[in-house]
Amino acid sequence: MKTILELITEEMRRGFSEAGYDEKFAVCTLSNRPDLCEYQCNGALTAAKQYHKNPMDIATEVVERISSSNIFSVAEAVRPGFINLKLQGAFLGDFVDAMRRDRERMGYDKVSTPKTIFVDYGGPNVAKPLHVGHLRAAVIGESVKRIIKFAGNEAIGDIHLGDWGTQLGQIICELQDRKPDLPYFDDNFTGEYPEESPFTISELEDIYPCGSKKSKENEDFHKRALEATYQLQNGHRGYTQLFKHIIEVSVTDMRKIYDRLNVHFELWKGEADTQPYIPDMIQDMKDKGLVYESDGALVMDTNEPEDKVEMPPLMILKSDGASNYNTTDLGTLVWRMNDYHADEVYYVVDKRQDLHFLQLFRAAKKAGICAPNVYLEFIGFGTMNGKDGKPFKTRNGGVMRLESLLNDIDNEMYEKIKTNEDIPEEEARDTAHKVCVAAIKYGDLSNQASKDYIFDLDRFTSFEGNTGPYILYTIVRIKSILRKYKEAGNEKSASKVGEPTNDSEKALMLVLSRFSEVMRTAYNEKAPHKICAFVYSVCDAFNHFYHANKILGIDDKNLEAQYISLLEVTERVLLCCIDLLGFEAPERM
Ligand code: ARG
Repeated sequence: MKTILELITEEMRRGFSEAGYDEKFAVCTLSNRPDLCEYQCNGALTAAKQYHKNPMDIATEVVERISSSNIFSVAEAVRPGFINLKLQGAFLGDFVDAMRRDRERMGYDKVSTPKTIFVDYGGPNVAKPLHVGHLRAAVIGESVKRIIKFAGNEAIGDIHLGDWGTQLGQIICELQDRKPDLPYFDDNFTGEYPEESPFTISELEDIYPCGSKKSKENEDFHKRALEATYQLQNGHRGYTQLFKHIIEVSVTDMRKIYDRLNVHFELWKGEADTQPYIPDMIQDMKDKGLVYESDGALVMDTNEPEDKVEMPPLMILKSDGASNYNTTDLGTLVWRMNDYHADEVYYVVDKRQDLHFLQLFRAAKKAGICAPNVYLEFIGFGTMNGKDGKPFKTRNGGVMRLESLLNDIDNEMYEKIKTNEDIPEEEARDTAHKVCVAAIKYGDLSNQASKDYIFDLDRFTSFEGNTGPYILYTIVRIKSILRKYKEAGNEKSASKVGEPTNDSEKALMLVLSRFSEVMRTAYNEKAPHKICAFVYSVCDAFNHFYHANKILGIDDKNLEAQYISLLEVTERVLLCCIDLLGFEAPERM
């Protein structure tokens, strides 16, 4: 289905060409003076230069041609040559009704050539509890993935676990110090290793920081950890078994938290999974003469002629032959290309890693791992700061675990919701959690991803203002009206969206009609914040409409039915948008 702006522009093109001007000037935009008009066209001003004419004359001529249009109720030329446009109610009503009939997509067309697109997000390191620092990658990545999928592509979210660094050697050595008798450390052991993990998640969460601390303070321990890492990476039997336990215990725990956040990965691959691809990849780079030795390490130049500053060479293998962050990221691209034929890969990672990704993309292209037409993009996000403007910390200065953050907000929201005594306990808990997720995600996503933002929980959890709970509150209000309408014995969808009967109704329709344009922009720019801004304006327009009009129980039953149809579209548009943002609405609050 064409977007409303396409229809408006088409009509204006007709006006320009019938008046004898190039139709390329018929560029229309949403009005920046909503008090004066709904859409506007400034094309006469640009055309004036080419035709050496007074812009006002051109605008007047164009307006004459479209005076009988059934799209515009007002098309007027105003000084110095703007064309101000207002839409006919019937046209707008028909458009929104077509959205209503297209139940799943509300008129938003799928891309004509679907692609296979990877979204690499999450990226936690194993054996460490998820903390607030992991929030942005999860929240933004999940939304970007959903936006890509809704556009009609195959979207694959891959968590890309950090499971291949020296931290594993540190964990192994610390465990050995604590439980030296475990068979994994006995090189003469040839039997079957126990099925059960030798540690629980809470032990593992203690082992990791201890090992990491020791490694910094104690040179011997550090060397042992490096050696253990090397052994693990070269197939040590006991360590490989331990590694499996580390991943399993850690992933089970992570999954719980990501599930609570409504973040779901299609793939749970990690750096370790790239190992089988590394030797061939390195050999190929050597054969192509792309890598050379520098201080014992294997490096690749990634400079390009237009660079203003020279880039340091990219280390492909460490001097001990071990792979590093670059190696595993390159190896990951190998299987994403070979096994999935990915057309595009997006990385949702802290923006401080921009140099890493710039070099990675260049190396991947240079080495032919990705064909020239494969599109790679780094979506770097900014820092989540506390109210003091510094990176967010708990009251006593520590990093806050995601689990405690979720528990705290769940409880706080529960206290608010429980005040409505009609809501049973279980539903109140579930609703509280939905509000919690909306608060966190909307608070984050309503900011442009690349910017730093203030993680202000008091604001995010407020039921008023531009917040997740306000959005849910509005949806719940719509649901409740629709429910009451049905309970009164009416069929929903008994009517169609018709010509608006008053200003607030028209204003709501105007906002809704922009749905597919907003979706397209959010997709093109991979920008969830555009959806947030739209959702907010829909809620605002709806609440105005709601306060200005009695909806249920009016005498004019046709009008009531028409309002209900409009509410149905509003509800569906909002539900679709929040789904793309990654949260859900309860039935009541
Ligand atoms: N584990 C990494 C870190 O903690 C983030 C991974 C991001 N994704 C990637 N493909 N490099 O910094």
